[in-house]
Amino acid sequence: MGKIALVTGANQGLGLALVRGLASALGSDDVIYLAVRDLANGQAAIESLGSTSAQLRLERVDVTDENTISNLADMLRDRHNGIDIVASNAAARITKDHSQADQVRAFVETNNHGSRRLLDALMPLLQPGARYAIIASSFGRLSNLPSHLQPLFDTERLALDDIETSMDAYVAAMENGTAAQEGWPDWINIPSKIGQVATARIAARLIRETGPDDVLINAVCPGLIDTAASRPWFDDMSNAQTPDQAARAVIDFLMSPKIPDAAHGELIRFGNVLPWNE
Ligand SMILES: NC(=O)c1ccc[n+]([C@@H]2O[C@H](COP(=O)([O-])OP(=O)(O)OC[C@H]3O[C@@H](n4cnc5c(N)ncnc54)[C@H](OP(=O)(O)O)[C@@H]3O)[C@@H](O)[C@H]2O)c1
Repeated sequence: MGKIALVTGANQGLGLALVRGLASALGSDDVIYLAVRDLANGQAAIESLGSTSAQLRLERVDVTDENTISNLADMLRDRHNGIDIVASNAAARITKDHSQADQVRAFVETNNHGSRRLLDALMPLLQPGARYAIIASSFGRLSNLPSHLQPLFDTERLALDDIETSMDAYVAAMENGTAAQEGWPDWINIPSKIGQVATARIAARLIRETGPDDVLINAVCPGLIDTAASRPWFDDMSNAQTPDQAARAVIDFLMSPKIPDAAHGELIRFGNVLPWNE
């Protein structure tokens, strides 16, 4: 039986590059679902890929919409009895045209609550040996928070819901103007990525307890990529990768065979584990 893969936010940027890379790494029995908010954009993305060895299919998924996620999970269960490869990549952008306080709720709703919603729906469908990447960033290390806020993301002690609660506390602090005084970093992307990495760490622990065997769940930093999402935030993009270049190391993880002591519940970048709290 072929492998079943899913990429969210698959119509542009890193997501489209992940589909392109997976489509050549996988074979004709394998199916890649491009999860997109807008089917017309998804269709254009598929056409831009030309012919591929793996089969490509479109699925409308907005990670802020519970119904689209449960429809996706039902379809994967009914048609394929599960899933083997997940790239949880969908992400809202932040613009410099509005204050961060005005954007934080929507950003966290997509990047944190959205990736958690997807995880909840797909964890029960993961097949033995499945690979699950939450696309995060090296900003998502606990050491990027002051020590008095770190207990909010204590992944040894907390449950998945607690991380959502911590993110909501951060949103409230941003919206009522107390975030800086409370010690939160001044760029939304940092607490948000810390929340995503914490979620991956806890999910990895849970899947070890419940099975199936040999599943690996990691947060993955793709490094700096030249996309419309990142361009406004970095003065010097001369070292930025193309989306195809950045996709390579992510795909290495998504296609990785069973190996002893493989990273699980970690933040990885270019195949190396980044320390959570150093
Ligand atoms: N770019 C970098 O330098 C960089 C560095 C480190 C990590 N990352 C991470 O890599 C990932 C991809 O980044 P990117 O630069 O490729 O971003 P991007 O070009 O903005 O692409 C984001 C994708 O997510 C989709 N999306 C947005 N909101 C969604 C929602 N509610 N439901 C479903 N899909 C949604 C977008 O769909 P639409 O086309 O419909 O808007 C788009 O396809 C993100 O997780 C980002 O944080 C990027």
